[in-house]
Formats: sequence, structure tokens, C-alpha cells
Amino acid sequence: MSVQMKMGPHSSPGFESRVRLEIDLPTLAENFRRIAKNVFPARVMAVLKADAYGMGVLPVAQTVIRAGADRIGVAELGEAAILSPRVRVPVQVLSGLLPQEVAGAVALGVVCPVTDLALARALSKEAARCRKTVRFHFKIDTGMGRMGIPVSEAEAVIRRVMKLPRLEAEGIFTHFANANLSDDPRTSRQIAAFGALLGRIKDIPFRLVHLANSDGINNFPSAYADLVRTGINLYGVFDLSGRHAYRLKPTLRLKTRLIAKRLLPAGHPIGYGGTHLLKAATWVGTLPAGYEDGLPLALSNRGRVLIRGISCPILGRISMDYTTVDLTACAKARVGDEAILFGRGGKHEITVEDWARIKNTHPYDILCALGRRVERVYLGGP
Ligand SMILES: Cc1ncc(COP(=O)(O)O)c(C=O)c1O
Repeated sequence: MSVQMKMGPHSSPGFESRVRLEIDLPTLAENFRRIAKNVFPARVMAVLKADAYGMGVLPVAQTVIRAGADRIGVAELGEAAILSPRVRVPVQVLSGLLPQEVAGAVALGVVCPVTDLALARALSKEAARCRKTVRFHFKIDTGMGRMGIPVSEAEAVIRRVMKLPRLEAEGIFTHFANANLSDDPRTSRQIAAFGALLGRIKDIPFRLVHLANSDGINNFPSAYADLVRTGINLYGVFDLSGRHAYRLKPTLRLKTRLIAKRLLPAGHPIGYGGTHLLKAATWVGTLPAGYEDGLPLALSNRGRVLIRGISCPILGRISMDYTTVDLTACAKARVGDEAILFGRGGKHEITVEDWARIKNTHPYDILCALGRRVERVYLGGP
């Protein structure tokens, strides 16, 4: 498979970065198509906020658009500003807008969220000033408690917003708080509250009604509606709990190389705090990757890496730039050898989900924590 392009905030021109994240674009496209097939006839919004969860928004956007994504969702206006001039599908801001962002949102022509009456009024006023029409989606809080029009007040607010000039209500959506738990009654209640609201305002035509993120897609097929919004599943990564509605392939591989291999005597401490003492003389390998690169500290004395397809335990505490491993099982390891931090290596695979379990967190945290100096390397064309 060819390396298509390299990009990363701290990429080093002319030589290979020590830690590389391979993103397999053809597999990502295949994952998108599987999700789309599963939810059909609902359409799919690819949620590429936070620089596509750290994967690099432009190559990921090009890939999913070619694979059929109808629109791109982002968290904030700054992210929409990067994408909007470069893609031919609508770009939609999913979180709120600050008052200071209203003029920019109208000028850019992005699809806006309406989270309350004040924002709708500000968008309407700015649209009139610019002689434009603003396309927007109502964001309804049915139980997330974070942003949006509380569902109990929504009918009244929606009816007032619909009277404002120069606004085009394209859609209405809500977001689940517990959809990773299949059959959770709280999600059923959110779906029911949203459905009841739609029943009360059925005189208002919305082209796009949407509820489900990846967890919603996997666990609540009744929530597909007109559109679903998927982010994490694009990478073949699932939440730790809940069902898998489809089989997706992993698209990510995090790699480094062995920078040192030394035979250390029994009793030798390893790393800060000496949290591991060698029980016997041991070949210890050192990898130039640490928590700055996104390796969770929780992998200290618990995680593994793959060298020459062999699983090697992590010894001692992970430091900012280094991780030490036990090479006993991999006697042939040589300085310069590739080490897989997560991804497939020979018969073994270490997953993003494995790291999340060890850190006692979710996979989103693992992806978004991958460091600034990790070079993003894109494999294949979309
Ligand atoms: C409103 C909204 N929709 C969809 C998503 C995508 O979520 P996921 O990555 O779980 O598919 C997010 C991400 O948090 C979101 O905030």
C-alpha cells in the first residue's frame, strides 16, 4: 500500500518522525460505506470535529466525501472555516455559536445550530444585514443537559424562531447521553421526548431530522431518522460498551522504532520512581515514544508493544519521550526495528480499545490525546 501524503503539525521534512500514526484511507472509506449501507435509507454526516479526532481533517474529509458523505459536522466555527471553502458538501456546526461568531458563521455560509431564541435573533439580524439567508438546524436538549433548547420549551421557541426573517430551518436534532448502553431506558426516553416534540410541530416541515451518533447507530436503530452522525466508527473504533451493528476494520496504526537495546543486571530499576526492578538479567529495549505522544501513563508496567510480531511487555513508568520494554521474548530485536504501539503486527493486534480499557477511559480520549509530534501518515488514496 502506498504512502499518499504526510502531514502533521510537527512533521520533520526530510526524515522520518520517531512516532508515526498510519491512517489507512481506503479502509476508512470502506468503513464509511459499511455504515452508510447499514443505516440506509438514512443519510450520513461524517463528524470530523477536533481535526477529525486528531487524524487530520482534510484527508479524512476528502476520503469520506468521495465515499458518499452527505455533509460534514464540526464542533466549532474555526473548524468549519477550515473545511467550508475546501469541500463541496455542507459543513455544519454542531455545538453552539458564541455571539462573537455569528458574523463569521453568516459570512462563511455554514449550516448553523440554533440553540436558543437569542442566537436565532442574532443570526436573523446578521443575515438581513448581509442580505443572505442562513440555513440552520434546531438543537434540542432531550436529556443531555449540555446545549440546546430544553425539550419542554422547544415548541414555543421553535414557533417564535420560525417567524424570524432570513432563516431557513433545514433540520432539527438532538444528541444522546447514554447511547453506548444498549436498551438503556434513558435513551428510549430521549427518543420518545424528541418524537413527541416532532408530533406537536408536524406542521413545520424539516428536511433533516437526526438523533444518532455512532453509539446511537449501533444500539438504537429506531433513531436513524433522515440522517445519522458518525465520528469514531469511521476509524473502526467502537465504544467499549454496547453492540456492534456492523464489522468495521481498524484504520489506525501507531508505530515507533527501537532506539536502544541493553542487557541490564538483575535488580536494576527501570524508569522514574523505579517502579520495576528486574528479577533477572534482562534485555531491555527503549522506544522513543512517551506520554507526549499520547501513550497513556496507565500503560506503565501494564501495556505491551509488538516488535517483529512478538508481544513485549512495557517495563516501568512511561516517561515523556521514552518507553522501556522487555525484549526477552524477542531476542532477535535490533536497534531501528519497528515497534507497533497499537494496530496489527504479525498475528497480534493491540487496539485503541485495549488502551482505553487499561486507562479506564473511552477510546475518544485515546485518539484525541495522540501527541503533536506524532506524524500523521496517510496510506493509499480514497
Ligand atoms: C452532536 C454530535 N453528534 C455526533 C457526534 C459523533 O459522535 P461519535 O464519534 O460517537 O459518532 C458528536 C461527537 O461527540 C456530537 O457531539
